[in-house]
Amino acid sequence: MTTAVGIDIGGTGIKGAVVDTDTGELLSDRIKLPTPEGGEPDAIVATVLSIIAQLGVAPGVPVGVCFPAIVIKGTTMSAANVSHKWIGLAAEDLFEKALGRPIHFVNDADAAGVAEVRYGAAKGVTGLVLMTTLGTGIGSALIYNGVLIPNSELGHLEIDGKDAEKRASYAAKERGNLSFSRWARRLQRYYSHVEMLFSPDLIIVGGGVSKSYTEFIPLLELRTPILPAALRNNAGILGSAALAVTQ
Ligand code: BGC
Repeated sequence: MTTAVGIDIGGTGIKGAVVDTDTGELLSDRIKLPTPEGGEPDAIVATVLSIIAQLGVAPGVPVGVCFPAIVIKGTTMSAANVSHKWIGLAAEDLFEKALGRPIHFVNDADAAGVAEVRYGAAKGVTGLVLMTTLGTGIGSALIYNGVLIPNSELGHLEIDGKDAEKRASYAAKERGNLSFSRWARRLQRYYSHVEMLFSPDLIIVGGGVSKSYTEFIPLLELRTPILPAALRNNAGILGSAALAVTQ
């Protein structure tokens, strides 16, 4: 059994658990704390520190952390829905110094995609898997024959002159008070475009709203199979833990 900790930093909550990365099972309770107001780096680091302390993790256990930004060699390069202080920040170093242990820092949708491919809805699928997460923004992960192509950021495709996530994320549905069928028209535009660009073999839809997938996935007309995520709220935790072990 290989054990690692996965931490998923989101706009509203920060979650963590100990994971068996061979099977994708959680070996501890899932601890969730609210994301500190403003989402500033030092406050988030302090929250992660407290989750790791509560999990009582032994020193040698690998830790993976995922975050909603482009992450290049441990540095966060964007901040679409978080504090701008993250832009150009050596986040991996910051966490390592504070936690006193090595960590692996990745994009949140990339972590969720890796988890769905290893343990979830895309397990055993060959070719190109496209993971999308519909939340405050739209996250994406491209995984080809099990290998992650990181930082795809397909939520920021420009469609009809607009940033795609501003129109088609779950937050856009909420903001516009859209019914599932009206929102599905926006999703149709989004997924047809992505399908045309990438011709994936499978599309996975994650994010909290994926639990209501029967309300909108059947409304989409695509040639690519499209499935709800299987791991729901745990995908970020599982994927960050898995990547912490394999990097
Ligand atoms: C960010 C991505 C992130 C996605 C989902 C987007 O706004 O640019 O990095 O993966 O939201 O959280």
